[in-house]
Amino acid sequence: MPRFNRRQFLSLSAGATGGLLLSQCGRDTQSVSSAGEGASAGSGTGAVMQSRDGLLRSQLVAAQGSINLGGQSVPVMAYGAQIPGPRLEAQPGDTVQLQLTNELGEATNLHFHGLHVSPAGAADNIFLEIPPGETHTYDFSIPANHPGGTFYYHPHFHGLVGRQVFAGLGGIFVVRGPLDQVPEVQEAREAFLFLKDLDPENGLGRARPMDQMMGREGSLITVSGQQSPDYGVDPGGLLRLRLVNASAARFYRLSLEDHPLYLIATDGGALTEPVELDELLLAPGERAEVLVKADREPGQYRLLNLPYERGGMGMMGGGMGRGGGMGRGGGMGGGMGQSPSTEPQLLATITYSDQPTSVPLPQQLVPITALPEPEQTRQFRLHHGMRPGQGMVFLINDLAYGHDRVDTTVRLNTVEDWELINPDPMDHPFHVHTNPFQVVEQNGRPAPYLAWKDTVLVPAGETVRIRTRFDEFAGKSLYHCHILDHEDLGMAGILEITA
Ligand code: C2O
Ligand code: CU
Ligand code: CU
Repeated sequence: MPRFNRRQFLSLSAGATGGLLLSQCGRDTQSVSSAGEGASAGSGTGAVMQSRDGLLRSQLVAAQGSINLGGQSVPVMAYGAQIPGPRLEAQPGDTVQLQLTNELGEATNLHFHGLHVSPAGAADNIFLEIPPGETHTYDFSIPANHPGGTFYYHPHFHGLVGRQVFAGLGGIFVVRGPLDQVPEVQEAREAFLFLKDLDPENGLGRARPMDQMMGREGSLITVSGQQSPDYGVDPGGLLRLRLVNASAARFYRLSLEDHPLYLIATDGGALTEPVELDELLLAPGERAEVLVKADREPGQYRLLNLPYERGGMGMMGGGMGRGGGMGRGGGMGGGMGQSPSTEPQLLATITYSDQPTSVPLPQQLVPITALPEPEQTRQFRLHHGMRPGQGMVFLINDLAYGHDRVDTTVRLNTVEDWELINPDPMDHPFHVHTNPFQVVEQNGRPAPYLAWKDTVLVPAGETVRIRTRFDEFAGKSLYHCHILDHEDLGMAGILEITA
């Protein structure tokens, strides 16, 4: 029996988290009943669909239903009647044939966030529209030199992205690679943490305008479909957490009590060597992999979501900038439907019962080469503002998304630097489809280590410089803010990669 480590449990207040996270029913697994086809059950661990002989062939049904969490019935949209949707696992070089059936009653489609695959045809083409009642088969191949990593599929039909992701649609897409072959990593127990907030009251409803402008947050936080699940660690071993921020707008500032986190991978896969962190901030769309060393006093340790202020609208109540205006906990409070996030929230626990032995961390992971100097530099200003006749709009370089307009044209096989400038009083996580990038500079400071990213936080008032190469695939692609309500409200641009 694991010994409870009492000391650990003194400081967490249930107050601001509404008690839901700490309820007795916290370990419940979900069961889902799908509106369309009667009841079926989904567990928090969920289904896994793996490729065989070079082919990942599978089906996804997107439908509305409800899940049962802690005695509460929560209306959701889900793939395969489970949150997260089935985990898809492939190898570099595999072909993916994925049939999506839309039972939502509104248009949808699929995006393979982070995968370096074609943005055209039946591949990662977010311009496709799958009408209600119809089925479409996605069919593409993963390049043989594709990095391994933790990727993320979710709907991407412009205008409904925030709504459908907020309602629960999404799943993990794993590509296995060299990181999985590193002996210490291979030894580690692997856990998938799909971080998704849900809204028991209004998960499928229309967002209030103010909630949409801030980006919708749900009061009920789930980790791979469960409330505060517990993860065991093998005696004297390492635990590998694969983390996905699958929330439409909520940030997670993660910290494991009494343990550092050893970062081994970011959005685009492995780092060169582990990086020790006290905490890890994951903005919407970001992923990370960390190792936990079970080398403290045996017991149960809490994985916490620490408070984080992501800014506000900044144009009312006299306040500009963080904490002012209508930010979280700011002037518009009450009606925001968001937790004020002033207290740590319990996400999960990690338990081990054996006296620690020495746990070796891997020294080397997978080499990363820095991209060469850019041939061109561009600037992207991320901001919002009032427009006569349109109300509040979210913009990139003064333009709201236009379906028929190409905003940025680049040439295949060239390297560019993009300067992401955020003059807003709120944070905007910037995401680019199709090609990963390296962060070069954050607010004038060089990035501390080389890493492959596809989503990077551009905090309020700051500038981030990223470097990317447009590799292998020509076609129309997209960049946008990954606060998905901002994307729907216009903060997105079309990128055309020309051969
Ligand atoms: Cu995860 Cu364009 O999105
Ligand atoms: Cu994406
Ligand atoms: Cu934004």
